[in-house]
Amino acid sequence: MAAGEEQFSDALVFFGATGDLAYKQIFPALYELTRRGHLEMPVVGVGKSNWNLAKLRERARASIQQFGKFDEATFEKFSQRLQYVDGDYLAPDTYEKLHQALGQAQAPLHYLAIPPSMFPVVVQGLAKSGCATNARVVVEKPFGRDLESARALDQALHEIFPESSIFRIDHYLGKEPVENLLYFRFANSFLEPIWNRTFIASVQITMAENFGVQGRGRFYEEVGAIRDVVQNHMLQVLALLAMDIPINQSPTALRNEKLRIFSAMRPLAAGEVLRGQFRGYRSEPGVAAESKVETYAALRLHIDTWRWADVPFYIRVGKCLPVTATEVWVQLRQPPQALFDGVSARESNHLRFRVGPDVLISLGARVKSAGTEMVGHNVELIVRDDSTDLMQPYERLLGDALRGDGSLFTRDDCVEAAWNIVEPILRLESMPAIYEPGTWGPSEADRLVREEGGWRDPQL
Ligand code: BG6
Repeated sequence: MAAGEEQFSDALVFFGATGDLAYKQIFPALYELTRRGHLEMPVVGVGKSNWNLAKLRERARASIQQFGKFDEATFEKFSQRLQYVDGDYLAPDTYEKLHQALGQAQAPLHYLAIPPSMFPVVVQGLAKSGCATNARVVVEKPFGRDLESARALDQALHEIFPESSIFRIDHYLGKEPVENLLYFRFANSFLEPIWNRTFIASVQITMAENFGVQGRGRFYEEVGAIRDVVQNHMLQVLALLAMDIPINQSPTALRNEKLRIFSAMRPLAAGEVLRGQFRGYRSEPGVAAESKVETYAALRLHIDTWRWADVPFYIRVGKCLPVTATEVWVQLRQPPQALFDGVSARESNHLRFRVGPDVLISLGARVKSAGTEMVGHNVELIVRDDSTDLMQPYERLLGDALRGDGSLFTRDDCVEAAWNIVEPILRLESMPAIYEPGTWGPSEADRLVREEGGWRDPQL
C-alpha cells in the first residue's frame, strides 16, 4: 500500500475537520497551498459533528478570515474543492462515504488531526474500505505518551502503511528558522572547526511562552510540558544543533544522523530535571485541584560523543513566563588568559539563534572601548530576517507530505529514541515547584546552570 516518493498525492483528506486544530492551523494552511497553486485536488474534511458541507465552508471562511490573508477569489477556489463526510470514526459506513467522496483519486493523503488513541481504528477503517491503497498518512503529535505507547502506535500504523508512507508531524520542523539551523551549520565553513567541545562550553535552549494553557487544560493535564514540547520540539532543535553532517540531503541520511545523536544522549536522571507549575494552573478549567502536572521544565542533557563529551546542553520551557521567544544560546569558551581588562568573557563570546517569534542570528564578542586603556565592552553582531511571506509550518509540512518528502517528519526509530531520553522523568511523583506567572520560573532551576553563570533569558 505504498505511495512512491516521486508520486504526488492526488487528494487530501483531513480527519478532525470540525476541531480546533483544523480551525486554527489546517484551513489557513490549505488556503495558502491553494493560493500558491499547490492544491489542485479534491479536499475532503471528515468529522463527527452532524455538520454538512455548507457548515464546513462557513467554518473554513471564518478560520481564514481570522488567521489567514483572506481573498474572496482564492477562497472560492478552495471552497469549491472542499467536500465533507460526517460520521463516527468507529463506523464502517463513514469510510464507505469517504471512498465515494474520493472518486477517481488514486493516491490520497490522509491527515489524522485527531487524538492518537483514534489512529489505530481510523487506519483500520481506511484499509477495510480500500481508502488506504497507495495512500499516505500524516499523524499529529503527541505521538504516544511514552516509549511503550509510541511503539504500540507504530505497530498499529505499520499494519497498514509502510514507514515511507507515514508522516509524523512536529510542526517545529516546518519552521524556516529551525531548518536554517541545519543549513547555517553546514553551509558555512567557519563554524565547523569550533563546533565541538574544544570551543563550546555549553548550549542553552529556551522556549518561553508568556501565556498559559489557553483553555487546553484537559489536554495539558494528560501531557505536561515535557511531553508537550520537550520530547518533540526541543529535542528536534537540539538534534539539529548537535548532529553530524548527513552524507547527503536525503530524508534517510538526515534521519540517520538524528538517530545517531538521540542514541548518544543519556536518558535523563531525576537530578538533572527541575519541574515547575505556575500559580493559578490548578484553577484552569479541566485541571485537577491537586494537579502535579508541570507547566515548566528545566533540564540538563549529556551527549556521549567524541564531539560533545562534557558539554552540557540545557533545555528550559515554560508557560506564563515574561516573554514569548524560542532561543538557542551557544556559549563559547573563554580565551585562555584575560590579557586585557581582566573581565570575564563568559557572556561575551557566544552565538545566539532566535527561532521564534522573530528570526535572528547574533555573534557576541568583546571590543575595545575608546580611550587610552585596553579595556572593552560586549557587543553583538546581529542579523535579522524580516521576510514577510514565510510559509507557515503547516503549509510547508502538508505541501511536503503531498509530494512524499519526509525530510521534515520524524521517523519511527527517531521518535522512539526521543521517548527513551525522557522516559525516566515522565512519571515523577513529586510536586513541581510553584512559580509566579510572569517570572522566569522557579528559582530552584538556577541550581542546574550555576556553573554556567545562570540562564540566558531571551530579551525581546
Ligand atoms: C504546541 C504545543 O505543539 O506548540 C503548545 O502543544 C505550544 O503548547 C506550541 O504553545 C508552540 O508552538 P509555536 O509554533 O506557537 O511556537
